[in-house]
This record gives sequence, structure tokens and C-alpha cells, in this order.
Amino acid sequence: MAVNRRKPNHKPGSRPGNSHPGAKPVKPAKRRDDRRKKPVEKPEEQKGDQPAIGTIQWFPGHMARTRRKIQESLKMVDAVVEIVDARIPLSSRNPEMDYLTDGKPRMVILNKADLADENANRRWLAYFKKQGMAAIAVDCKSGRGCNQFDPAIRELLSDLLEKWESKGANRTIRAMIVGIPNVGKSSFINRMNKGGKAKVEDRPGVTRQNQWFVIEGGTQLLDTPGVLWPKFEDQTVAMRLAFTGAIKDQVLDMEEMACELLGILRREYPQVLLERYKLEEPLNEDNYELLHDIGRKRGMLVSGGQIDTGRASIMLMDEYRGGKLGRITLDSLPSREVTGDA
Ligand code: G4P
Repeated sequence: MAVNRRKPNHKPGSRPGNSHPGAKPVKPAKRRDDRRKKPVEKPEEQKGDQPAIGTIQWFPGHMARTRRKIQESLKMVDAVVEIVDARIPLSSRNPEMDYLTDGKPRMVILNKADLADENANRRWLAYFKKQGMAAIAVDCKSGRGCNQFDPAIRELLSDLLEKWESKGANRTIRAMIVGIPNVGKSSFINRMNKGGKAKVEDRPGVTRQNQWFVIEGGTQLLDTPGVLWPKFEDQTVAMRLAFTGAIKDQVLDMEEMACELLGILRREYPQVLLERYKLEEPLNEDNYELLHDIGRKRGMLVSGGQIDTGRASIMLMDEYRGGKLGRITLDSLPSREVTGDA
């Protein structure tokens, strides 16, 4: 069978697994028909809350506003709760949070734990705990694990709670919820806010946009004051955000995404590929050839007998997102970390 040799648009240093600190800023993959289009210039002009890759580094004004809002709101809360996508616990974080919330007790919630590898969830929980944060894994769709939130935040703030008690202070915990778009902040708040009603308050110094929710046990949650963007320093992070739906597909090359995903699956979950696509061992080491193999197995042909890699890419991404490939975590722990179970 003839093989279409057109390779996806990999740039040097941007191939799967080649993430490095000096990686170039991400640019949208060029397509023949959009080369003449002007790039988006102002973040405010974007529709919805999805960033376009390639414009992220032009967000200083926007980031500065969010940073200011978060820092103002920090004065009103006892802890910061960061929600991340359990499938990409690092790629779905904004690294500025460490600096922005310096000194505040922190909790990380691995949301969408139902879609992530259970062993990886345990290792990531251990990783965040080792950094002095509280960490829980939840599934906001079913509500699984959400009951861990109250005890975990009480344990995190046990010193403060003791102090309040010794002073006879009648206070309740206040925590700010932060996270990049699509990690499940609204789902978490809706799940916890059992009454279903947002409690909007006009406290002195609190802007009207600040939304407070009271959850069972009395803790008050402050919805994110502003939108946090993820870290877009290299193509790998951008790709992973796109795999999970945090970035729109249109800004990335679908075949390139499929090859990046195949690279991870081949290394970390080869059995999934072998079984799902009925491939034979050894798996092709070239991701693009592997995509061909999958397209061939699924009978995705174009005229002339070539493999329709575009269709195969869309099918692969759909199957991954639809959970048909099973529970898969794409981010690996930093290699220097000891990866003991929690
Ligand atoms: P955000 O506020 O941080 O932007 O995220 P949001 O709650 O809107 O959730 C984004 C998507 O992720 C939603 O899917 C939501 O249902 C889904 N989601 C949130 N938490 C979980 C979880 O723990 N497990 C799973 N499997 N999915 C979760 P959507 O397709 O945008 O909408 P819909 O499926 O609710 O219609």
C-alpha cells in the first residue's frame, strides 16, 4: 500500500517529548489557506475564553490585570485552591500561581480523575503533597472524591482553625478557586454548592464580580477573579491542552496533534494501541508511520489507495477525548521526583 510521505509540521525542538526550557514560543501551525490571514492582535478581541496559540505571549496587560485581581482577593481568603486537569497536572497549571500566592496555604484538586490513570493520580497527589500542598483527586461529573474537600481544607488550615478557636473567633474558612479554562472550576463549584444558589455579596472592598459560594460545612468559596492562562512556552504544553479540549483544535495542526499523542501512547500505553487498533508488535517507532498503520487498520483510504491521515487523526483524537482509549495521563512527573505512592 502506498504511503503518503507528507510529514506533519514538526519544527526542530518541537517534536513530541522535546519540551525544553529554551523552547521557542508556540506559533500556530501554518496551513496553505490561512497564511495570508492577519494574526489576532488583542486578547480582548478574542471570543469566549479560549486563547489562540501564538498570541499568548502578547497578553501582558491581561495577565497583569488578573494578577492584580488575584493579589487583591488573596487578602480576603485563608487558602488558595487550584483546580487542574488530572490528565495533565502540570500542563494545566499556571506556573505564576506559585509566585502569586506566595505564603498562602494551597490545595491542588486533580479534577477529571475519572479520565486519568489511577496510578498516575496517586503519584501526582504524592508529588503535590511533597511540595507542602493539600491534594485530592475528584470527579466532578459523578461527584466522586468531592467529600474529601472539607476534611482536606480543615487539615490544611488546622493551625489557623485552632487559633480562631482559642480566640473564640466566630469565623468560617474562605478559599479562592483558581484554574485555567476548562479544568472544571464551574463543575466543582456547582457540585459543592449543593443549594445551587450563588451567594453574591457586596462586602466593602469586594467588587461585584466577586462571587462567593457557601458549601456544606460553612466554607466559603470565591470564584476566580479573572482568567488565568496556562503556560504556553512550548508546543508540547499547547498540544496537551488541545488534547484535553482547553485549546480549540482549529489553532493546531490535527496530524501534528495526533502524532504527539501517539508518541505518548507508544511510550506509556503501548497496550492500548495494540488492542484498540489491532496492531502488531513492535509498534512503528515513527509516529507518522504509526498513524498510517492505524488509518490502514480502520480502512481510511483516499483515492489512489493512500491513507487518509487527516481522518485517522480526527478519529484518534475523538477516541481519546471520548475515553475510548481508557484512563490516560499525559504529563509525566518531573524525572527528579521520587514517585512513591501517596
Ligand atoms: P471551567 O469552569 O474550568 O472552564 O470548566 P467546566 O466546569 O465548564 O468544565 C469543562 C468541561 O469538563 C465540561 O464538559 C465538564 O462537564 C467537564 N468536566 C468537569 N469536571 C469533570 C470531571 O471530573 N470528569 C469529567 N469526565 N468531565 C468533567 P463540556 O463538554 O464542556 O460540557 P458538558 O459535558 O458538561 O456538556
